[in-house]
Amino acid sequence: MTPAANTTLANPLRAGPRLARVPEPSILVIFGGAGDLTSRKLLPALYNLALQRLLPPAFAVVGAGRTRMAEEQFRAELRDAVATFSRTKPLNEEVWASFAEQVRYVSIGTPEGYDELARTLDALDRGIGTQGNRLFYLATPPKAYEPIVRDIGLHGLSRTAGWSRVVVEKPFGNDLRSAMHLSEKLHDVFREAQIFRIDHYLGKETVQNILVLRFANAIFEPLWTRQFVDHVQITVAESLGIEERGEYYDAAGATRDVVQNHLLQLLALVAMEPPVAFDAGAVRDEKMKVVRAMRPIGTHEVAERTVRGQYASGFIEGTRVPGYHDEPGVAPLSQTETYVALRCYVDNWRWEGTPFYLRTGKRLPKRATEIALQFRAAPHQVFSRDASAGLDPNTLVLRIQPDEGTSLKFGAKVPVQGVRIRSVNMDFVYGASFMVDAPDAYETLILDALRGDATLFTRRDEVEQQWTFVDPIIEGWSADQIDLPTYAAGTWGPTEADLLIARDGRAWRKP
Ligand code: BG6
Repeated sequence: MTPAANTTLANPLRAGPRLARVPEPSILVIFGGAGDLTSRKLLPALYNLALQRLLPPAFAVVGAGRTRMAEEQFRAELRDAVATFSRTKPLNEEVWASFAEQVRYVSIGTPEGYDELARTLDALDRGIGTQGNRLFYLATPPKAYEPIVRDIGLHGLSRTAGWSRVVVEKPFGNDLRSAMHLSEKLHDVFREAQIFRIDHYLGKETVQNILVLRFANAIFEPLWTRQFVDHVQITVAESLGIEERGEYYDAAGATRDVVQNHLLQLLALVAMEPPVAFDAGAVRDEKMKVVRAMRPIGTHEVAERTVRGQYASGFIEGTRVPGYHDEPGVAPLSQTETYVALRCYVDNWRWEGTPFYLRTGKRLPKRATEIALQFRAAPHQVFSRDASAGLDPNTLVLRIQPDEGTSLKFGAKVPVQGVRIRSVNMDFVYGASFMVDAPDAYETLILDALRGDATLFTRRDEVEQQWTFVDPIIEGWSADQIDLPTYAAGTWGPTEADLLIARDGRAWRKP
C-alpha cells in the first residue's frame, strides 16, 4: 500500500478532492526555527510528509531565528531532532538527505537579518521554482509575534506574485483584548483568509472523527439532543507536570493553556449543528454558533460553576513527583491553577438545560482525553431493581487519546437463568480496524495550511468568543479570596471538583 493511500484510509475526511490537492510549490518560513516546537513537532511532521511524498517537488524550509547558526549546524540539529521525535523510525537517510537539500537558516537577530531573509526567499523562488508562494509559521514565544509580523510587512516578504499565509501558534492572546489586538496587527499585513490560527487538537484524527461519527452516520444524530443526553463530560487529563515550561505555564495556567482552546474546541465539535458543507466557512460558522450560545459564567458565579486546583507533591506510577510550587520557573506563592473543572451550558434548542462538564489537569493519574455522552435512563424499568443492579447509564465514549476509539455502553442479560442485567461495551478501536499509524496532528495541519484549507484552524470571531467566555472566569477567581485548593499529584483533582458534579447527582468518570 502506498503511503498516500494510508492517509486516505486513516482519515476519511481527506478522501476525495481534498486529498487530491497536493500543495503548490512553496516555501515554509519558520520563525523560531531553532526552537523547541520546530524540533519536536514541525520538522518531524515535515519529514513524515516528505516520506509520504505529500510535499510538492519544489519545496523549501527556511528557519529564521535570533540565534546565529551556520546552516550546516541547523541541518545537523534538525536531523537529530527528526531521528528522535519522528513517529516513524528509523530515519530514512535518503528521504532526509533530499529534504535537507532545500533547508536554509537565516539569522534575524541583526537589523540586516530581514534583508538577508528576503534575498534567501527570492533566490529560492528563482532557483527551485517556488513561485513566490510562502507560508510563514510563527513558532516563537508569543511576544515576538507582533514584531515579526510587522517586519514581514516592512520588508515586503508577503507581497509576491504568489500566495502568502501565516500560521500563528497558540496561545493566541492571553485575554480578549490582547487577542483582538494581535488580530489587528496581523490584519495590517494579512487578510483574515491568510491567517491560520492553530489549535493542534483539531488536527488529531480522533478529533476530526467527531464530525465523521456524527455526520456520516444517521444513527447517532437523532439521539444527540437534550431529550436523550443526560449530560456530557469532556476530559483532558495529563499525568505529566509542567516539565520545563514553568515560566510560560505560571503566567498562563490551565484555563488559558487548555480550556480556552482545546476544551472549547472539543465542546464546539460535539455540540454543533450539522454544517451545510465540509468547508472552512460552513464548519467554522457552526462551531462559532456553539461558543456564542455558551451561557456565560459571570464573575459572581465562579464559586458555583467552577473549581480550580493546584497539584501538590504525590505519586505518578509509583514515583514521587514534586508539587507545582517546587517546579522550576514557578513563583513561590503562585496561585496558578493546574486543574480546572467547569459546569457549562449551551443555550440553544438542542442543548438547553444539558450540562457539559469540562475538566483538565496536570499530574492526574493518567493521560486520557475523552468525550462521554451519558444518556438518560429508560423511562420505565420493567426489570426489578435487583435484576438491574449492575446496569450503568448508557454512555457513548469518544476516546481521543490514547487507546483511540469509540465505545457504547449498554445493558445485556447475563447468560444465567432468570434476568440479571450487566453493562457491556461495544468497542471500536482504531488500531484494530485500521492497520496504519495515524498521521500526527501537525502533519495534517501543515499540509492543510500549505493547501490553503482553513477548516481546522480557528477564525478570528471564534477565538474572540472563546476569550469572551473565559475572561470572566479568570477575573472571578482573581477577585476570589478563597485559597486555591490543592490535590496530590496522581489523584483526580481536588475534592471540590467531585462536589461540583455530585451536587447535580452525578459523578466524574474514571477514564
Ligand atoms: C498544549 C499545552 O497546547 O497541549 C500543553 O500547552 C499540553 O500544556 C498539550 O500538555 C497537550 O497536547 P497533547 O497533544 O499532548 O494532548
